Amino acid sequence: MELLKKKIEQEGIVLSNTVLKVDSFLNHQIDPELMLEIGKEFSQRFANKGITKILTIESSGIAPAVMTGLQLNVPVIFARKRKSMTLINDLLTSTVRSFTKNETNEISVSQKYITENDQVLIIDDFLANGQAAIGLIDIVQQAKATIAGIGIVIEKAFQEGGQHLRDKGFHVESLARIASLEEGKVLFVSEKTSEVMK
Ligand code: G4P
Repeated sequence: MELLKKKIEQEGIVLSNTVLKVDSFLNHQIDPELMLEIGKEFSQRFANKGITKILTIESSGIAPAVMTGLQLNVPVIFARKRKSMTLINDLLTSTVRSFTKNETNEISVSQKYITENDQVLIIDDFLANGQAAIGLIDIVQQAKATIAGIGIVIEKAFQEGGQHLRDKGFHVESLARIASLEEGKVLFVSEKTSEVMK
């Protein structure tokens, strides 16, 4: 998605060989116009999949997920990482280990909102090692619903998550795929040829 790549080139800050900071439009301050375009792009890429629900994880997955839900006209659910005062009964839970942050979260979703007839589109902001996606997949499978696809805003293709999910047969669509963050530069994977491009 050219608009997103341009934004990453203009505003992304390479913090290390593995971490890209994008808090001017995705992880802290949010660019609503860009999120709307992201929602349109996901809705096109997953059109005709019969999606009935979108599932994401708090907090940065919520903005792109809501915009996609708006386009597809379906509800959006976010998995909680912290216990809620009101969300206490009939929870579907899974454990997500973050290698980046070296912490483990128990994530939860009320089983009321995902049922076996649902075709679920999973959306998240970043795909690194894939642990968040695996936790969300686990929750959808516990609900006996179907995973229609996985939509990622920024995939770090040099980490293993994307390959792992595709090898498992999931339909993964990433709007920007980063091949490398070495030497302080963002190199994208070309969508058509997988050739490395600036
Ligand atoms: P994984 O789910 O793919 O295994 O990712 P990992 O554990 O490595 O990442 C944990 C958190 O860090 C996630 O956010 C993820 O989106 C984010 N993250 C991973 N790599 C990058 C990166 O290069 N840049 C930025 N900006 N974020 C990255 P989170 O803890 O759930 O945060 P939030 O959704 O509340 O913002």
